Amino acid sequence: MSRIVKLALWFILGANLWSQPLFAETTQEVVNKAPNGLALTPPMGWNSWNKFACNVNEKIVRDTADAMASSGMRDAGYQYVVIDDCWHGARDANGFITADAERFPSGIKALSNYVHSRGLKFGIYSDAGRLTCGGRPGSQGHEYQDALTYARWGVDYLKYDWCSTGDRNAQEGYALMADALRSSGRDIVFSICEWGTAKPWLWAKNTGNLWRTTGDIADDFDAKHKAHDWEHPLLQILDLNEPLWRFAGPGHWNDPDMLEVGNGGMTPIEYRSHFSLWAIMAAPLIAGNDIAHMDEVTRSILLNKEVIAVDQDALGQQGRRVWKDGDRELWVKPLSGGARALVLFNRGEQPAMISATADQLGYPPGMRAKLRDLWAHRDLRRWSGSFEGRVEPHGVVMLKVQP
Ligand code: GLA
Repeated sequence: MSRIVKLALWFILGANLWSQPLFAETTQEVVNKAPNGLALTPPMGWNSWNKFACNVNEKIVRDTADAMASSGMRDAGYQYVVIDDCWHGARDANGFITADAERFPSGIKALSNYVHSRGLKFGIYSDAGRLTCGGRPGSQGHEYQDALTYARWGVDYLKYDWCSTGDRNAQEGYALMADALRSSGRDIVFSICEWGTAKPWLWAKNTGNLWRTTGDIADDFDAKHKAHDWEHPLLQILDLNEPLWRFAGPGHWNDPDMLEVGNGGMTPIEYRSHFSLWAIMAAPLIAGNDIAHMDEVTRSILLNKEVIAVDQDALGQQGRRVWKDGDRELWVKPLSGGARALVLFNRGEQPAMISATADQLGYPPGMRAKLRDLWAHRDLRRWSGSFEGRVEPHGVVMLKVQP
């Protein structure tokens, strides 16, 4: 190669090099370029917290996995069995996290194998701070070590909380763990549990697969039994999560917290509303009850496959409230194939008539379509421009309109 050609090459390559930002990329930007490709529909599964809190143990998790397989939940799409807070023991001499030996005597790896053997996936919980919300060791300063441990244990899902984080920056804290999970070499769904304080919907799209938008759900329809400021009854969660509909999509979901269906604080009508509204908001459907001992009403709600199909629709759009008049509301979710899911929701104490028009659904006035009631499981008269239904107090009518 002549000196002139070499010189020309040096200028071209050199100039190119300088045009690349060398140190400009933050961890967050690096992670943003590598979404993990998971959770293309909202994650479904079970989590121990809402029912068992810190009383979780390996028998409960095994019994739940068995029941998820035998009750039909697994086949209906509930996939992840997630142990929430309080599974942890101390860190060992090398800083590796261990399990609480009294509650999990067989160890987490054995439990994960058990869950996998039932055709399910396994999830676990940690925290970006020094301590978890339940006072167990958090992952701060051990992010890569913990991600490696989870990968060795066969973990498929990590819920990552935000207690004891002091003045830590949430975007940085979650980007760090996202990078650690990615570096572990295992596909792990990343569930951001920051309660919406730092507005993760604005920055977490390629960091996590779902992000909590609110404080903790209370097993209550309105504020009657609210015990703490950070607890929200169903109606409050709805109003906090609804305006964020634009930020959800395949791989990145708004998470209005786990389901309370079957935990006893609401009536069957209210639980049906809870499940319907979570489905129309394309929320993760993470059951939070005692699956091994659930009654028939609970089972019929959690296993309503027509409502689940609305949640899991491939288009991945979060539905929203298109009309409200006092306690009466109309919610619409666009589905694939030009269909729409509708929820007619009555917050009030008296039965109410609620209607939906073509305009509210984004349809031309004369359009004809099939109309199906997703709780009665029956076809109604055909849609030809409007629908009016009677809705019970605190209840819903849920429909699918299929052109
Ligand atoms: C926080 C979370 C809950 C649960 C508990 C565990 O409150 O928001 O979902 O994980 O911590 O301590």
